[in-house]
Amino acid sequence: MKLSKLLLGLMVGCAALAVNAQTVIKFSHVVAVDTPKGKASEFFAKKAAELTKGKVKVEVYANSALYKDKEEMEALQMGSVQMLAPSLAKFGPLGVKEFEAFDFPFIFDDTADLHKITQGPVGASLMAKLEPKGIKGLAYWDNGFKSFSANTPIKSAADMKGKKFRIQSSKVLEEEIRSVGGIPQVMAFSEVYQALQTGVVDGTENPISNFYTQKMHEVQKHLSLTNHGYLGYAVIVNKKFWDGLPADVRGQLEQAMTESTAYANKIAQEENDAALEGVKKSGKTTVYVPTKDERLALKKAMAPVHSKMADRVGKDTLQTIYKATGFDPNAL
Ligand code: LMR
Repeated sequence: MKLSKLLLGLMVGCAALAVNAQTVIKFSHVVAVDTPKGKASEFFAKKAAELTKGKVKVEVYANSALYKDKEEMEALQMGSVQMLAPSLAKFGPLGVKEFEAFDFPFIFDDTADLHKITQGPVGASLMAKLEPKGIKGLAYWDNGFKSFSANTPIKSAADMKGKKFRIQSSKVLEEEIRSVGGIPQVMAFSEVYQALQTGVVDGTENPISNFYTQKMHEVQKHLSLTNHGYLGYAVIVNKKFWDGLPADVRGQLEQAMTESTAYANKIAQEENDAALEGVKKSGKTTVYVPTKDERLALKKAMAPVHSKMADRVGKDTLQTIYKATGFDPNAL
């Protein structure tokens, strides 16, 4: 009698636990909270709690608090963290080199061009390539176009010659810097400020929202609004974790992601504009807007990157992008 009561009590206890069990999603990223990605991940956490009625708790870890660039990808594959939003450049080192197509200089004229790819069949087929790596791609989130900074003015390729530029770990970006005679230095995002401050590197490239929120304007005297290449994100999850979620919860999270993507893409430009205002107001960095001719000259100088690196990302991927956006490196 006593034993059966005990068993009954245990069963009730377990059922209560199962009902109350909350799934925790650790979402790690490397940028500041006050950026397009930082804000969109917080938005997702709120939406996920709302739509799953508290069944899922998303814990967001900003500013490399959990992992640096390369480590976070390994952590996702191992399941120590469930969700990330790495920049598209970060998939090359994982062996999915096609993602480096996004790193080609001047390949997208504007966000409308970019969306033809991220929101079209190429974007979907690139995401599918992550699955054999144990990763499921959920969405593309915008950030923006990159600008170059240094302690000396940058108006032309000649101004970059012999200077060390921090880049993300991408072979296409290495070639981009080499095309203008610079020296590429791959480095984790969290280390850039100090590297600029101590002179380990002379300059860097990033959208202004990253530049400003990492306080790079404190240690870079010049920022040239070159808009020479794109930086944005793929929101990804550990596939086994994702597939193991109850279907209704997964559906609610997909809905939360759809809404968060719309939000991310809506605020990206606004955040970059506000960051630029912040840089200007600080008075610490001189902001230069290249003339049409200067920008065209830079575009020409970097054009050989396209033929040199076509094999790395696959000629077909590249041609499909050219076709969609109308970019023709040979016409320069
Ligand atoms: C970088 O490393 O420069 C970027 O990937 C940072 C980010 O995630 O925006």
